[in-house]
Amino acid sequence: MSNWNPSSWRGLPILQQPTYPDLNKLKEVEKRLGSLPPLVFAGEVRSLKENLAKVGRGDAFLLQGGDCAESFAEFHADNIRDTFKVMMQMAVVMTYAGSVPVVKIGRMAGQFAKPRSSDTEIIDGVELASYRGDIINGIDFTKDARVPDPERLVKAYNQASSTQNLLRAFASGGFADLKQVHKWNLDFAHHDVTKKYENMAHNIEESLNFMEACGVSSKTYRTLRETDFYTSHEALLLNYEEAFTRKDSLTNDWYDVSAHMLWIGDRTRQLDGAHVEYMRGIKNPIGMKVGPSMKEDDLIKLVNTLNPDNEEGRLNLIVRMGASKVEDHMPSLVRAVKNEGLNVVWSCDPMHGNVYKSSNGYKTRPVDDILSEMKQFFQVHKSEGTVAGGVHLEMTGKNVTECVGGSFQITEEDLGSRYHTHCDPRLNADQSLELAFLIADTLKESRKQ
Ligand code: PEP
Ligand code: CO
Repeated sequence: MSNWNPSSWRGLPILQQPTYPDLNKLKEVEKRLGSLPPLVFAGEVRSLKENLAKVGRGDAFLLQGGDCAESFAEFHADNIRDTFKVMMQMAVVMTYAGSVPVVKIGRMAGQFAKPRSSDTEIIDGVELASYRGDIINGIDFTKDARVPDPERLVKAYNQASSTQNLLRAFASGGFADLKQVHKWNLDFAHHDVTKKYENMAHNIEESLNFMEACGVSSKTYRTLRETDFYTSHEALLLNYEEAFTRKDSLTNDWYDVSAHMLWIGDRTRQLDGAHVEYMRGIKNPIGMKVGPSMKEDDLIKLVNTLNPDNEEGRLNLIVRMGASKVEDHMPSLVRAVKNEGLNVVWSCDPMHGNVYKSSNGYKTRPVDDILSEMKQFFQVHKSEGTVAGGVHLEMTGKNVTECVGGSFQITEEDLGSRYHTHCDPRLNADQSLELAFLIADTLKESRKQ
């Protein structure tokens, strides 16, 4: 990798960064982080890349999901468990009903820093610096809370580390055993979707019993007993990422060991900017959000910069157009990448292009628009003869009321009852499961052809 090192992003144009009042303090914290243990091992990162290569070829499907922003306040084992549960449910739905293996990546264990549409926020005539995520400043609308504090990087690392630890325990300690398929259902889940899931879980159980009678059981087969669950976050705060950029002793390559996968947001993907510079040098699988302002020739330049060896499984293009813009913007981008023979994983983020403010003042997303963007994404790939590789969601296992609609029909009036997000509105467990069934049906259809 020419002219690259973990700090070669410094000095380049950079957007969406906090202004720290005490730079010496920041330096001291970066140094401390630099000596802390990695959260993931490079070998795991390589196996994720292999799995994503399968996704790119259409031999597996990618499910990436979690909070828009993790927070210090909502840090609790139950929240981690419930998101893990819903993702297991969704994955099993897609595998069983869609007949395709699912690669699972949480937006978890490090998803703290947020890009904002404005540097400041005004409430009742008072203007303060915007909240940029718990790794940077506090959400409370006070002058003190909004001052960026480097100590928050350490707190975020500690929380990410406990989260990663629990996820590993869930993935390999028995909780992810397929025999637990009934127990992943969440108590409050809505009747129709729950019933559908229960029926499917029952069929899976019967198949497992049959296989066990034939001598194949989760006691002897790791793949039935354990799962691989990877972590990811937006690499926005490069001071944090640089501190966790380490040389792998087996290969001598640089890895960002703060997560298995990192992505660049739609607002920080400038070709000559700091984020693209940082990301091009790490060996992890990476993602890039692709919004409606992306032009074909810029996309090709970015793909070539971020994946110069045209490696499979390296680059995930996460399309987030908005339901009304997919048709106009997406096909030409897909065609351009295909014509250049570039290996990418295409996935669909049906969340970020579909935000609006409800009449009672909540930032929300209509489930109908989310489903519509997802369907159109599949349709474009079908028409272009390319692979619809995965989905990228903001979701939670909690029974929140943040997105309107869905089979449970959450209305704008309902939004106030359980609106807990620190940033963007998330799908709740019912809405996530509903989406999983829709994806499973679509996958099954496309595999029939
Ligand atoms: C996000 O994924 O939370 C996000 C900010 O997305 P985007 O960069 O696509 O706006
Ligand atoms: Co978001």
